[in-house]
Amino acid sequence: MSAPSPITSAKDLERWKEEGLRSLAPNTAKVSVGMATCGLATGAQAVFDVLTEELSKASSQAILAKTSCIGFCQMEPIVEVYRPGEPRVLYKEMTAEKARELAADILGGKVNKQEALCTLDGFPEAKAGKTISGIPRMEDLPFYQKQKKIVLNRCGRIFPDSLAEYIASGGYFTLWQVLNNRSPDQIIAEIDLSGLRGRGGAGFPTGRKWRFARDAQGDPKYIICNADEGDPGAYMDRSVLEGDPFAILEGMAIGAYAIGASQGFIYVRDEYPLAIEKLETAVAQARSHGLLGKNIMGKGLSFDLRLIRGGGAFVCGEETALIASLEGRPGEPRQRPPFPAEKGLWGKPTVINNVETWANVPWILSQGADSFRKLGTQTSKGSKVFSIVGKINNTGLIEVPMGLKLRDIIYDIGGGIPDDKKFKAIQTGGPSGGCIPEKLLDLPVDYESLTQAGAIMGSGGMIVMDEDTCMVDVARYFLDFLKEESCGKCSPCREGIDRALEILERICQGKGRTGDIETLESIGKMMKGFSLCALGTTAPNPVLSTIRYFRDEYEAHIRDHKCPAKVCRELIRYSISAKNCNGCGACVKPCPQEAISGAKKKVHTLDQSLCIKCGMCYEVCKFDAIERE
Ligand SMILES: Cc1cc2nc3c(=O)[nH]c(=O)nc-3n(C[C@H](O)[C@H](O)[C@H](O)COP(=O)(O)O)c2cc1C
Repeated sequence: MSAPSPITSAKDLERWKEEGLRSLAPNTAKVSVGMATCGLATGAQAVFDVLTEELSKASSQAILAKTSCIGFCQMEPIVEVYRPGEPRVLYKEMTAEKARELAADILGGKVNKQEALCTLDGFPEAKAGKTISGIPRMEDLPFYQKQKKIVLNRCGRIFPDSLAEYIASGGYFTLWQVLNNRSPDQIIAEIDLSGLRGRGGAGFPTGRKWRFARDAQGDPKYIICNADEGDPGAYMDRSVLEGDPFAILEGMAIGAYAIGASQGFIYVRDEYPLAIEKLETAVAQARSHGLLGKNIMGKGLSFDLRLIRGGGAFVCGEETALIASLEGRPGEPRQRPPFPAEKGLWGKPTVINNVETWANVPWILSQGADSFRKLGTQTSKGSKVFSIVGKINNTGLIEVPMGLKLRDIIYDIGGGIPDDKKFKAIQTGGPSGGCIPEKLLDLPVDYESLTQAGAIMGSGGMIVMDEDTCMVDVARYFLDFLKEESCGKCSPCREGIDRALEILERICQGKGRTGDIETLESIGKMMKGFSLCALGTTAPNPVLSTIRYFRDEYEAHIRDHKCPAKVCRELIRYSISAKNCNGCGACVKPCPQEAISGAKKKVHTLDQSLCIKCGMCYEVCKFDAIERE
């Protein structure tokens, strides 16, 4: 099977499927380590190395494999142990040391219930398998209970470099069906009927976009996968690229057939080396087995792909800027219309879709538009992938039906706020999203509801903030990011961000003036109305939404020169409580200014003229003797 032979028949696919099934469920033990970026960042390589060493020592029959992220990043490094006929067991928070013990357990046929996260069903078959008493099933864990995996279904379950495992889990059967039995018009109609909307942010109906491009005059036509993903805190697309690259390739091949394109591009940010590696491997395999290139699957479709590395400018994720960058010009947006579907890359009709949008395509066509439509709300169908980060117990990557409440995401899936702190806000939609307060936690997550609340769906980044967060500082932080990332081509965005940031910085320094809030609001309105691209029209969201829901915090900064969350340095003051200080001296050494002095076991003093308010003393004091006002 490994010889590069084209897949041109249903029989070929079946043979690959059998090989993939043997690899997914071999007749010996198999140990898979999650080695996506999140796993590697927490030590998965060391775990893998130890398992390699230990499992080889005993000339055991256990196979060692690599997989990707199964979503629960908080629990990484995660290792899956499979034994024929037994439930698969996921082990959490592995270390090199624990891996040594795990290897011994595997060789001794033991299950370590203490270290287990959950059991999970076989794959690709989804039927409930046996369970192990004392270990919860994956679907019973609160983190997974309310999830519905379409795009993330294979992530963390297959070896992303393996075409055979992709095929064994249903991959490429859809392209085969499409090329044999469906016309391009039927494909577009099905995508349209499914209600799929672009997952890159704007939520434009995908079927409609494809129809425009198919009907547009111009030859050749192009398709692009937007894998630029520059939002701070967001890594949905990266995970799909690292965990299931063939799904994007298959989705794009179907799209190319529907639109009439023979060349596609994946524009992926250069800071995603692992995603690039996985894509390169997948493209090379797809090419050598006739799934890319001329006469795909022997059915006459000619379509090939090139990977283009983006330099990491946030604005290059905007479709017209991305196209400019792809053409070798500075990555700056241009006025639309004409939209890319009519005049895109090199002036030709071009469909540009997000990674998640492309990855949804094979599922919709294999399961039918109705299955997709059944999920979600009136206007937002299907599921959506989110990365949940910040002040939340369970950080990770989740996929939920559209319309699930924010409360369910934060408390049921996310496990609530660490250290029993109070929830303050959730920022959805990346740097130009909005901050949603506690009173709106029952908001259903769909395009329209989020927009009405002053936020946006964006591509799916969610940042949770607790009571220790200053909302003025949050607005300042995001505008600071956007100032760096604005291309500066249009003055409403360039000047608007600059002016608003100046004001926010003053407010955070305690130099706010009466009228600043109103000025921020009018700058925001101007930017929304007149900026050239959505970077500028959405940039005021963090400011406007924090004013809308946390106006009292702005007023406290301006009127009372106080930062209620005690974050803005210039507005806080540290002092030593004579009542609580026992002279332990723990605060003396960490102070970078040598501002604290005092004899052992005597009340210490803090020299205000030296204090730079770094908060180190506050962090280290175990006796509540450092007061922060
Ligand atoms: C500043 C800015 C950055 C963007 N970044 C991305 C991105 O990283 N990925 C993405 O898919 N869309 C991004 N978009 C949206 C794209 O312009 C475009 O709408 C999207 O790629 C279309 O694909 P979709 O219909 O599948 O969502 C960005 C838009 C703006 C204004």
